[in-house]
Amino acid sequence: MKLWGGRFTKPTNELVDEYTASISFDQKLATYDILGSLAHVNMLASAGIIEADERDTIVDGLKKVDALIKSNKDVLTKENEDIHMNVEKLLIDEIGPVGGKLHTGRSRNDQIALDMRLYLRDQVVTLVELLTTLQTALLNQAKAHTDTILPGYTHLQRAQPVLFAHHLLSYVFMFQRDVERLMDSFKRINKSPLGAGALAGTSFPIDRHFVKDELNFYRITENSLDSVSDRDFVVEFLSDASLIMMHLSRFSEELVQWSSQEFNFIELDDAFCTGSSMMPQKKNPDVPELVRGKTGRVYGHLMGILTTLKGLPLAYNKDMQEDKEGMFDTAETLIGALSLFSPMVETMTVNKEVMYEAVAKDYSNATDLADYLVTKGLPFREAHAVVGEAVLSCIDNHKYLLDLTLAEFKQFSEVIEADIFEVLDPLAVVNARKAHGGTAKQSVEWQFGEAENYLSDTTIWLEKMAELLS
Ligand code: ARG
Repeated sequence: MKLWGGRFTKPTNELVDEYTASISFDQKLATYDILGSLAHVNMLASAGIIEADERDTIVDGLKKVDALIKSNKDVLTKENEDIHMNVEKLLIDEIGPVGGKLHTGRSRNDQIALDMRLYLRDQVVTLVELLTTLQTALLNQAKAHTDTILPGYTHLQRAQPVLFAHHLLSYVFMFQRDVERLMDSFKRINKSPLGAGALAGTSFPIDRHFVKDELNFYRITENSLDSVSDRDFVVEFLSDASLIMMHLSRFSEELVQWSSQEFNFIELDDAFCTGSSMMPQKKNPDVPELVRGKTGRVYGHLMGILTTLKGLPLAYNKDMQEDKEGMFDTAETLIGALSLFSPMVETMTVNKEVMYEAVAKDYSNATDLADYLVTKGLPFREAHAVVGEAVLSCIDNHKYLLDLTLAEFKQFSEVIEADIFEVLDPLAVVNARKAHGGTAKQSVEWQFGEAENYLSDTTIWLEKMAELLS
């Protein structure tokens, strides 16, 4: 007999059981569901709704059910539909009819909202931790490469030289935004919906703040209808996750390019690459490729939840059961990608000479020749035209700007003097860009300081979370 079977005259069609059950996936919430039930039952006793000895029996029973599920997932059945009813059924099997008092003043509708918030709190903290580890790996590589120069690109055409440290730091600040978004989302996740009941609240004299305090929520949700129909926090999580995947995917694309023979700027460690079943020479960057590929499924989950929710009237609708698989898969996909990315970045080797070659055998110092002419009094537009001619002539004669003699330089402009050779040196070109945020070594040093300040703010937040969620 179903927990809700009283009103029915026949058993459920087996296909309906199969179709409507969520236990195959919401069993991931078992521990959170039981945690929520423990808080609820403590509150029921404290509010005088059940007796203290009933509470003790239920608490003991819930702990046994938790251990039982952990040791054997087969105790969960689709006949009992979802994790909430499976736990309740197992509890009643364990302690008898008194187990039936657990669901007093509560509905599965506020219960699932609670479970998902408890689950996402942990995921957000884990992801912030993993992002911080990745930022640290990037910073370590950057610090080892404050003299390594590579071409900076626009349109994937060599544009101006930059420090490799500068390039890596751009990802540190990109991931910083992700960290901040997740930390900010936490305050919207960390509210307790329990007590909203099915939709309208409950007539029992419950104490919602008691449950909030037991579970270390910041606040209680304010409106019962909104409490059971709100999945904005899931949408927000998937949206934050999509941005993280987009960032990882762009970085992946660079790693794939850089490790190609055509670029040969870096080599990923053997431990993070795979081979070909047919071509013995191959070493493939499967990890960044797969991260780039898995970005699609995370975007898909975001579109999925937005579409599931868009036509739903208040309050709970069964459609909302579709909110879970995408959320789980997203958290797992991100944890997988980030866990691999940090050691992969940490262990990659950088082909400093190849990068330098790409800068030296190129025209990426052309802007600096134009800027030089401007310091000698030419309007920038004229300087641009003069340098354009110089570059064209060099291309025709298979030369780079630094191959020109002073006399040849002077053919393009009389104002050019012998100091031009120093000005056009790649390191000088980089170090000329001293303003905050530029690629000069001194600006890169400043960026290290900024990044470290952000990281120590995150560390403080993570310490607070460890205390809150312990
Ligand atoms: N399994 C359900 C879900 O995940 C739990 C809430 C169900 N509530 C209900 N009245 N059927 O959405």
